[in-house]
Amino acid sequence: MPSVVILGAQWGDEGKGMAIDAFAQRAEMIVRYQGGNNAGHTVVVDGKKTILHHLPSGILHPKVRCVIGNGVVLDPAVLLEEIGRVKQEGYLADDRQLVISDRAHVTCPHHIALDKAAEAKKGSGKIGTTGRGIGPVYRDKVGRTGLRFGDFIEPGRIRDFFRQALPEANFLLTQFYGAEPIDEDSVVALYEGYATRLRAYAGCTYRLVNDALAAKQNVLFEGAQGIMLDVDHGTYPYVTSSNTMIGSVCNGAGVGPNRINRVMAVLKAYCTRVGAGPFPSELHDETGQRLRERGHEFGSTTGRPRRCGWLDLMAVKYAAELSGVTDLILTKLDVLDGFETLRVCVGYRLDGEEVTCLPAAASVYERCEPIYRDFPGWPGSVSAARRLDDLPDEARRFVGFIEETLQLPMAMISVGPGRKETIILNSSFE
Ligand code: GDP
Ligand code: IMO
Ligand code: MG
Repeated sequence: MPSVVILGAQWGDEGKGMAIDAFAQRAEMIVRYQGGNNAGHTVVVDGKKTILHHLPSGILHPKVRCVIGNGVVLDPAVLLEEIGRVKQEGYLADDRQLVISDRAHVTCPHHIALDKAAEAKKGSGKIGTTGRGIGPVYRDKVGRTGLRFGDFIEPGRIRDFFRQALPEANFLLTQFYGAEPIDEDSVVALYEGYATRLRAYAGCTYRLVNDALAAKQNVLFEGAQGIMLDVDHGTYPYVTSSNTMIGSVCNGAGVGPNRINRVMAVLKAYCTRVGAGPFPSELHDETGQRLRERGHEFGSTTGRPRRCGWLDLMAVKYAAELSGVTDLILTKLDVLDGFETLRVCVGYRLDGEEVTCLPAAASVYERCEPIYRDFPGWPGSVSAARRLDDLPDEARRFVGFIEETLQLPMAMISVGPGRKETIILNSSFE
C-alpha cells in the first residue's frame, strides 16, 4: 500500500473513522493533520463503538503508529480522557504508539469560553460550531499568540503564556460578552498537571512521518471534517477554521505533495450537515427524517441531530477537483435500503441558469436549487454484500452512476458500520 490520504468530501461525518479503521490493518502509520476535537470519528469493532475526537482512528490497531501532526489543535483534557478510555479497553498499551507534534497548538479554557460566548451573542445568526474553541485557537495560531505543544510541556512556560493571554481574553469575555472570566492560578495549575501527563507523547513528527515514507512504509493520512467545511473553499462563514483540503496534509504533517500517492474521498450515499449553512439538497420532509433515523444521524461530538438530504454530486465533484481525488469511498449504502426512489443532485440552478462555478457567498449558495436525477431503489438489504456482484442491480447502477459522474473509481463501499461490512474494490487494500 502506498501513502494514502483519506478525507471527507461533504460536510463531515462521512464515515472517515470507519474507512481509516478498515484500511489500518495494512498501515504502519496513521497521521491526523488538521482540525481538533470538533471531529468525532466512529470506529466499530465486534459491535463495540468507539468515538475518537483526537486520537487517530488507527489506535485500535496496536501495531499502527499514531501521529498527531502540527496542523492539529489539541484540547489536553479531551485527549487525556480519550487516552484513559482506550487504555482501559486494552489499547495503547505501549505509549510509544502515540506521538504528538511539538508544533501542534493547544486549546485553552478561554478559547472554549470565547467560542461559546461568540455563538451565544450571534443568536439566530450563529454558525452552529461544536463549541470546542476551534475558531479562537486557530485565530491565536495565525495571530502568533498561541500556545504550542512544545512550549506547553516546557517547565515554567504555562504561567507566562496565560499571564499574557488572559487579560485580553478576560476583557472580551467580561466586557464584551458578559461572560465569566478565567482564573489564572487555577488554569495554570490545571494545565501544568496536563503537561506532566502528556509530556511523554511529544515528538518531532515531521521526522517520523518523512522517515516512514522514505522507508516505503504504508502511511495513512486521516482528514477531519469535510471539504465543504474548508475555511477557504467551503460555504464560508459556515465552515470550520482549518483547511480541510489536500494542502493541509503538506502543511499539517510536514510532507511534500510528491509523497502522496493516492487521495481517497469519503462520501455518504446521501448527505448530512451539522450546524448552519447552505445545503441545497436538504430534505425537510419525512424522507429526511427517514434518512436521519435509518442512518442514526446524530452528531458524534455534540449529539445534535444532523440535517439530512440527498447525495449532492455537484458538491462532491467540486471537492474532488479541488483536492485531486484519485479514488472514492462510498459509505452507508445500506441506509438507502427500502427507498422506492432515490435522488441524486447533479447540478444547481440559480435564477433560472445552471451553475458552473459554486457561489462564494453563502447568501447566494442558499438560493441554489438542486437539479435531480432519479433512480429506482432496490429491494431487500445490501448489508450482507461483500463483493460488488452481491449488490442488487439497482444498487450497482447507483454506484456506477457516481463513478461515471465523478470520473473516479470506487476503492471501497461500506454497507454497515463494522470493520468487515465493506466491499473492497482496490486490491492494494485487501
Ligand atoms: P466521520 O466523522 O467521518 O468519521 O464519521 P462519524 O463517525 O461522525 O459518522 C459516521 C457514522 O456512520 C458512524 O456512526 C459510523 O459508525 C456509521 N457508519 C459508517 N459507515 C457506515 C455504513 O456503511 N453503514 C452504516 N449503517 N453506518 C455506517
Ligand atoms: P468530523 O471530522 C461535521 C462543523 C460544525 C459547524 C462548523 C464549525 O467528525 O467529520 P467548529 O466547531 O469547527 O468551529 O464548527 O463545522 N463541524 C463538523 N461537522 N463533522 C465534523 O467533523 C465537524 N467539525 C466541525 O458543526 O457547523
Ligand atoms: Mg464525525
